[in-house]
Amino acid sequence: MTTATTRPHPTPRKSRGRSRVNWTLMMLLALAISGYFVGQYMTGSLQTLGHEKVGLANTYAHRPLPVQAAFYVHITTAGLALAVGPFQFVTAIRRRRPGLHRRLGRTYVVSIALGSAAAFVMAFFSSAAVVGFFGFGSLAVLWGWTTFRGYRAARQRDFPSHRAWMIRSYALTYAAPTLRLWLGILIGVQILAGRGADGQTMYETAYAAVPFLCWLPNIVVAEFMIRRRHLPGLRLSSG
Ligand code: HEM
Repeated sequence: MTTATTRPHPTPRKSRGRSRVNWTLMMLLALAISGYFVGQYMTGSLQTLGHEKVGLANTYAHRPLPVQAAFYVHITTAGLALAVGPFQFVTAIRRRRPGLHRRLGRTYVVSIALGSAAAFVMAFFSSAAVVGFFGFGSLAVLWGWTTFRGYRAARQRDFPSHRAWMIRSYALTYAAPTLRLWLGILIGVQILAGRGADGQTMYETAYAAVPFLCWLPNIVVAEFMIRRRHLPGLRLSSG
């Protein structure tokens, strides 16, 4: 599917500074989302949190035990992958502490193996119904697949492909922050449009769009980043 061609390009100082700022913002948002959204489910049982209308607790509070287990597996492993991911893109860590990069990388891959399988189960019970099933379900499959390709490329020591697949993988992991950003934007647009709907209706309208909106733009951005870094692009043939 990919070929391994890289052309090293010296990066101008200004663009390095910009990349650092972007990376810092990306890392802070990732840590904030994994800390806050995962943490809120650790403060009580799903039943208690459901009564208090915390997040999606109510959607899962009355599901069978295996689905509730999938919920907890998903939020903890996905939260871990989101928090670990940014550090894998730090060149200094990769060069000076390759052992640390490998350990964090294994943590990331195992987290996503578990997190994507659990997410796939949850997609059947999504509060966004059929759109949730197809949007989150296809995201779960692509998330596992891109991560597997990144892992396999590293094992084969094809590092340009490894970088490209891991950029795709993390762009999908980043669906968690982008979902919450889109929710805010879509609710804001409804308020500005003055549709006069109540908070719950505005939330539900916004939520119906996010199962696809949270990740489709991310993969477009990922392909631009891969191209800019002269890493292998997606090919239709496996040659
Ligand atoms: C990228 C692949 C991911 C997929 C396919 C996925 C899938 C899902 C699904 C299906 C739900 C239930 C949604 C519903 O019932 O409507 C959910 C909820 C949740 N996910 Fe993920 N997820 C992903 C990534 C992440 C990441 C990286 C995090 C890290 C913070 C995360 C944290 C959560 C949390 C905290 C919830 C509970 C809902 C909330 O409080 O907003 N997910 N996810």
